[in-house]
Amino acid sequence: MNPMSMQLSSKDFHRISEIVYRSCGINLKPGKEALVRSRLMKRLRAQRIFGVQAYLDYIESPDGSHELALFIDAMTTNKTSFFRESEHFNYLRDHVLPGLTSHRLRFWSAACSSGEEPYTLAIWLKEHMPDIDKKDALILATDISKRMLEKAHLAVYPANTLKSLPSPQFKKYFNRLNGQDAGSYRITDEVRKMVRLAWLNLMESWPMKGPFNVIFCRNVMIYFDRPTQQQLINRFWELLEPGGFLFVGHSEGLSAINHKFRYMRPATYRK
Ligand SMILES: C[S@@+](CC[C@H](N)C(=O)[O-])C[C@H]1O[C@@H](n2cnc3c(N)ncnc32)[C@H](O)[C@@H]1O
Repeated sequence: MNPMSMQLSSKDFHRISEIVYRSCGINLKPGKEALVRSRLMKRLRAQRIFGVQAYLDYIESPDGSHELALFIDAMTTNKTSFFRESEHFNYLRDHVLPGLTSHRLRFWSAACSSGEEPYTLAIWLKEHMPDIDKKDALILATDISKRMLEKAHLAVYPANTLKSLPSPQFKKYFNRLNGQDAGSYRITDEVRKMVRLAWLNLMESWPMKGPFNVIFCRNVMIYFDRPTQQQLINRFWELLEPGGFLFVGHSEGLSAINHKFRYMRPATYRK
């Protein structure tokens, strides 16, 4: 049977939603059936399994744990860009960086996708913290998607994705590539080495102790339900240093969450 012709019953959708929620907290709401179906079909084709239930049985079996990770990866939405929600970076420059006087600085991009967010941050630190190279500064960048982390490791981006860079001078942090990568740019080594990439599922335990000066958790909580968001916000609070900053996506304010953060401006909170 051609997987393309396969229908997704509401029972299948319900089962998939449960697996995804249990594995990574993403709350697949009704209305997402077509998206889920097309993402699922890619995995069925890759595995040459031609039945939805057989595939779901497999990923829920002890032998299917590797495929389960690939399935969850396929279910994620990874849209991102350089200088996305640039107000955050302006706020950082004007109100956060001047106060970061300690030698040890820790930033966390908690759902970094293909790397644009942590690399933007690294470039911003280079530009606006003149002594950054003398500090023990690290940007931890984590995501559940190994596909995206591989892209972030490569750090190669097509020219059209660099249009959001605020000024041409930022091109100094990108090397133009030739040959089969002509038309793309690679982040320079000096920027890449400021970023430590790692796989991390926000729903599981976190190996790092913190404290962090700044946490970016943008455009991922939108996929989680309220209890999951609440839990995550509590955990970010624990990991931030007193006075540390939390940036969330502009469509993800914390108004429905119980928290002790001080509201600074839209999508910007301080411990
Ligand atoms: C829409 S992207 C946002 C990227 C970036 N923060 C931004 O704002 O441009 C959301 C990312 O969250 C990741 N994600 C979803 N659930 C996750 C989880 N449970 N743990 C870690 N990352 C997760 C996805 O893989 C995806 O790359």
